[in-house]
Amino acid sequence: MPPLVFAGEARDLEAALGEVAQRRAFLIQAGDCAESFRDFSAVSIREKLKIFLQMSVVLIYGSGLPLVKVGRIAGQFAKPRSEPTERVGELELPSFFGHIVNDDPPTAAARTPDPSRLLRAYHQSAATLNLVRAFTNGGFADLTQVHTWNQEFVANAPEGQRYEALAAEIERALDFVRACGIDLAQAQRLHRVDLWTSHEGLVLDYEEALTRRDSLTGDWYDCSAHMLWIGERTRQLGGAHVEFFARVHNPLGVKLGPLATADEVLGLCDALNPARREGRLTLIVRMGAEPLVDALPPIVRAVRDAGHPVVWVTDPMHANVFRTPSGVKTRSFEAIMDEIAAFFSVCRNEGVWPGGIHIEFTGEDVTECLGGSAAVLEEELTMRYESLCDPRLNARQSLDLAFRVGELMRGD
Ligand code: PEP
Ligand code: CO
Repeated sequence: MPPLVFAGEARDLEAALGEVAQRRAFLIQAGDCAESFRDFSAVSIREKLKIFLQMSVVLIYGSGLPLVKVGRIAGQFAKPRSEPTERVGELELPSFFGHIVNDDPPTAAARTPDPSRLLRAYHQSAATLNLVRAFTNGGFADLTQVHTWNQEFVANAPEGQRYEALAAEIERALDFVRACGIDLAQAQRLHRVDLWTSHEGLVLDYEEALTRRDSLTGDWYDCSAHMLWIGERTRQLGGAHVEFFARVHNPLGVKLGPLATADEVLGLCDALNPARREGRLTLIVRMGAEPLVDALPPIVRAVRDAGHPVVWVTDPMHANVFRTPSGVKTRSFEAIMDEIAAFFSVCRNEGVWPGGIHIEFTGEDVTECLGGSAAVLEEELTMRYESLCDPRLNARQSLDLAFRVGELMRGD
């Protein structure tokens, strides 16, 4: 099969992330926890893109800095699990590992791994990427469309109104620039955006098959996505995932949980970025607000003192999952905000750049995470709970988060 991305694009993303490492830009990496073979349509891609563009505008406006936009999209199909099997009633079934491996219904047939799913994941990724490229380059992401990204169910909520006010300010600023005699039609940057793709590089059978030698440089690239990350469960030094990704030239992420040690992280920096290229390595911290306060500073100091040019990013989602008394897997908006705030404060105390956020959201009006300004209550969680894996922020909560992160980025 042809590669999905071109090596030159991965190099451009590395350069953009290098700007983040240099404190001149921020990163947002966001999307589904797991893409789904069932929920696959132009509408769902478009709705995700709308909220992504809205969050981007809010963050750029808030920070006054360029924003590198990376989706968990067009390949985010594999899920690492803590347990290989799960108990459903009387049955002991293989866990659900994402649609690239098996199916989610709790039956033995559905949970049997099926290699033809690798091909289906590839084709769905290709179609998704094609539409993302069309939307982001073909006028949908044009800054003059800033009002049209506000969906109806968001527009009526407080954060939707706050967004409307901001969109109106942006339009006035554009009118002003136009009135000064600047031809906005010529300003390409206003009419298109770069949305890069990324996913967890978990299923090496898939990643290897899409790894190709770049004809321009002779270097190896994993052409399944622009950026790949190594998950918290597979980041062992000497493990297959670290060995594999050390040898491809894409920008890489590594997730760091609360038990990560400074020595381990230094080992990962040396293994994955021995040449110390800016933008090559992003460390995605997912420790939980409280554990982060003690666990992160020694790691930040060790990496900083060793002179490794990493991008520091907060993933406030993955260490904040809990089950309600009735057994629903959820996250609370306030815990997510607390972890982001704790991350910014540790970075500032240690003199490193809080480079960005990594989150799981959806454009739909789901009820999977608790809280937010139009709060989702515990008894409402089951109303629209559609995630295949982890609970995601809905469109309103995502926008609310973007406004608050914008304030943190400014240092308010
Ligand atoms: C994820 O990003 O969906 C994920 C499983 O993350 P982690 O490796 O941090 O648990
Ligand atoms: Co997840």
